[in-house]
Amino acid sequence: MNILVTGGAGYIGSHAVRQLVKAGHNVVILDNLSYGHKQSLPDGVPFYQTDIAETNKVEEILRTHRIEAVMHFAAFISVGESVEKPLRYYRNNTAGAMSLLEAMERAGVKRFVFSSTAATYGEPAEVPIYETTPQNPINPYGRSKWFVEQILKDIAAADPDFRFIAFRYFNVAGASADASIGEDHQPETHLIPLVLFAAMGKRPNIKVFGTDYPTEDGTCIRDYVHVDDLIAAHILAVETLGNAPQAAAANTFYNLGIGRGYSVKEILDASEKVVGGKIPTVHGERRPGDPAKLYANSDKVQKELGWKPQHTDTEEVIATAWKWHTTHPNGYSGSSF
Ligand code: UFG
Repeated sequence: MNILVTGGAGYIGSHAVRQLVKAGHNVVILDNLSYGHKQSLPDGVPFYQTDIAETNKVEEILRTHRIEAVMHFAAFISVGESVEKPLRYYRNNTAGAMSLLEAMERAGVKRFVFSSTAATYGEPAEVPIYETTPQNPINPYGRSKWFVEQILKDIAAADPDFRFIAFRYFNVAGASADASIGEDHQPETHLIPLVLFAAMGKRPNIKVFGTDYPTEDGTCIRDYVHVDDLIAAHILAVETLGNAPQAAAANTFYNLGIGRGYSVKEILDASEKVVGGKIPTVHGERRPGDPAKLYANSDKVQKELGWKPQHTDTEEVIATAWKWHTTHPNGYSGSSF
């Protein structure tokens, strides 16, 4: 299929580009490079440094490349920043998605795979979280994605030819097996890269945010899904959407997590095994807005799309991240400290 990947120079989008190309699809990348990395772009894949808000330009790209489906990764992702700057999040994540969907409507592109988030559940009423668990996002980031989910339902109701699949991501982690691409956020806020930075001496230590949660070891529990497994689900989704007889699995939402939670302490223990030494750790206060336990029930995506995560051992996931960070200690911007 001819597929446009927005945010294709970002952490998750760059892994999507690699896997789509490998699966034989014709990929076009769109990224405004506000956070994405030019160095992650593969040779030979058309790239446009364009913002999703540029509706006319996006329409032209869709037409030029006869795009059949869009995978939409371009978005802001920081919960804390979204609380400080809500308009920035609604502008980019919600209005930006609307602009993209408008360009698709004008160009007659009817297939859409959307990156939503477990943050749309807020403080969930139950764990594991099912797709039917009530959604009650507690920050602008979660709401900015939740709004897009509602918009997609409305478009699908209005246009019988439009088909979407939206994934609610849990904690995406790891890097490509060959360590050619990986996670490079500025600033970095995610647990696994920060733990590994402490192991590398790039930071003095890792601070555990809260040790008094109602969990077995007192630290928060999350569901860490390897980025390549996450993308494998997107490829199953886009191929399903492009395949009329299987279209029953369209216009729906799937949790993307491995269905098992790991505590911060367990991630630290696993990381110490991977790096082969102690990682300097300090205990700190709880981070505001962190629920104690978030992990998915992912039976729906496994049953309906046939998805099966390959990296269910956290040590293996962390090992791929470790290989990336140690070979790229300054991320994409150089290879020395
Ligand atoms: N943590 C620490 N120390 C740190 C960083 C994180 O102890 O320095 C803890 C957090 O408190 C949390 C866990 O590690 O318990 C994971 O934190 P991350 O920041 O890596 O990830 P979150 O679970 O907060 O957020 C992720 C995505 C968000 C998304 C959310 C959905 O990054 O985009 O899941 O629930 F909104």
